[in-house]
Amino acid sequence: MIIEFCVHGDQRGKLISLEEYSSIPFRIKRVYYIYGNKQSIARGFHAHYKLKQVLVCVNGSCKIKLDNGINTEIVSLERPDYGLLINELVWREMYDFSEDAVLLVLASELYDENDYIRDYDKFLKIVKG
Ligand code: TYD
Repeated sequence: MIIEFCVHGDQRGKLISLEEYSSIPFRIKRVYYIYGNKQSIARGFHAHYKLKQVLVCVNGSCKIKLDNGINTEIVSLERPDYGLLINELVWREMYDFSEDAVLLVLASELYDENDYIRDYDKFLKIVKG
């Protein structure tokens, strides 16, 4: 789901503010960003049991492939005022990064390797019950 953020713009430029339980629909426990990507290299290839995230491409562009075990969707992120909400139990792949891409990620949980599902067949078994 795409969330369109409120842009505070004036003659000086633009400003976007993101707050938990408001533009970001969860408590923000962690922020990280991905940059310096090689265009031909994809990342991600996992889902999470519990984690929710909002992805914002604050500079440049990239594509995100989402898969809930039934449907897949490809989302192009290329606007700093758009956030992509990824709920739990969604397989994601990130690719086609422009050289200048900076992908900001707001996360609902601290980093926890035990929350990762890195095996696609295991993911399918989990979502299909
Ligand atoms: P990785 O999960 O491989 O990134 P991606 O999902 O983009 O493919 O993470 C790369 C490395 O960074 C890995 O060693 C784990 C570490 N890492 C943290 O320490 N904290 C974090 O919040 C994240 C997302 C990754």
